Amino acid sequence: MKMAGAAVGGLAIGAVGGYSIMPPKETIVTNEVEVEVEVPQEVPEYPWTYEKLDVEEVKNRAYNAYFESGCSYGAFEAIIGGLKEKVGFPYTSIPTKMAVYGKGGTVGWGTLCGAINGAIMAMNLVSSDLSPVNELVGEYTETAYPTWKPAVAVKTDEDLPTSEAGSPLCHVSVTKWCEASGFGSGSIERKERCGRLTAEVAGRAAEMLNAVTDGNFVPVFQDAVSVTTCNGCHGDAGPIANVHAKSDCAQCHTDEPHETS
Ligand code: HEC
Ligand code: HEC
Repeated sequence: MKMAGAAVGGLAIGAVGGYSIMPPKETIVTNEVEVEVEVPQEVPEYPWTYEKLDVEEVKNRAYNAYFESGCSYGAFEAIIGGLKEKVGFPYTSIPTKMAVYGKGGTVGWGTLCGAINGAIMAMNLVSSDLSPVNELVGEYTETAYPTWKPAVAVKTDEDLPTSEAGSPLCHVSVTKWCEASGFGSGSIERKERCGRLTAEVAGRAAEMLNAVTDGNFVPVFQDAVSVTTCNGCHGDAGPIANVHAKSDCAQCHTDEPHETS
């Protein structure tokens, strides 16, 4: 659906009789000229049409973009950049640098992992179905990263230790990996780890979108046991109703049932 400007052809000036903008008595012979005119493009209805992307290409693109402007940009650029090439407009109208803010769990605040942030922003642009988004976040908490390796590594070629975060938070994800690997949070290994993780997360997002397109996306993620138990009382529908979250409660609170007065 590329509509990069329509061409109006066949404008032969002064060739046929009738009105001419040229001075009279002057005969000008021209070849047919093509005039490029800007046609305002209509922004399509939300959600925008997705076309299946090559998952390995998405991973590589995300990995390289990570080292340009961080995890959130890396994941967003991998998907939207891929769609720019494959679909063209309207994706070509999106400046993918708008996703840079998400790095380090939003400019270093250690909240939502930027790779997730960038990936799901792209997912939600091409689909209003939020179940793949939930699946990506849930699956992230249970996945040991990183296992993917680039053909050409930017920081270090070595195989890196893996860790599961149990949480979608950047701080938890990075710090658990530092503990598991022995590498510092400012090390080149940690950066390499986050680059590879960004590739994997973006790749999974594309895989899920491809499955949605094929009509065979099946979510499998189940909430942590603590979430179901604790939210029985604390959740939106419980008698106390002071918790609006489905992150594993046990990671920050005890998962022991407690006395209630
Ligand atoms: C049977 C209902 C019930 C369940 C299940 C339950 N809670 Fe509570 N929880 C309560 C009540 C009642 C209070 C006291 C509320 C108050 O004082 O406002 C409370 C208080 C708390 C507090 C505040 C404690 C404090 O000392 O001030 C925390 C934190 C908490 N619950 C976490 C959890 C977690 C985590 C789980 C799951 C492991 C859980 N709760 C499961 C009913 C429950
Ligand atoms: C990322 C860490 C984190 C996770 C995950 C988390 N909490 Fe909390 N929770 C906190 C913090 C921090 C506070 C505020 C400090 C406090 O009150 O202890 C809090 C407060 C609470 C309180 C109020 C405590 C009080 O003193 O009144 C309850 C109840 C509670 N959480 C329950 C839950 C439940 C249930 C879950 C799981 C669905 C959960 N939390 C998940 C960190 C977390």
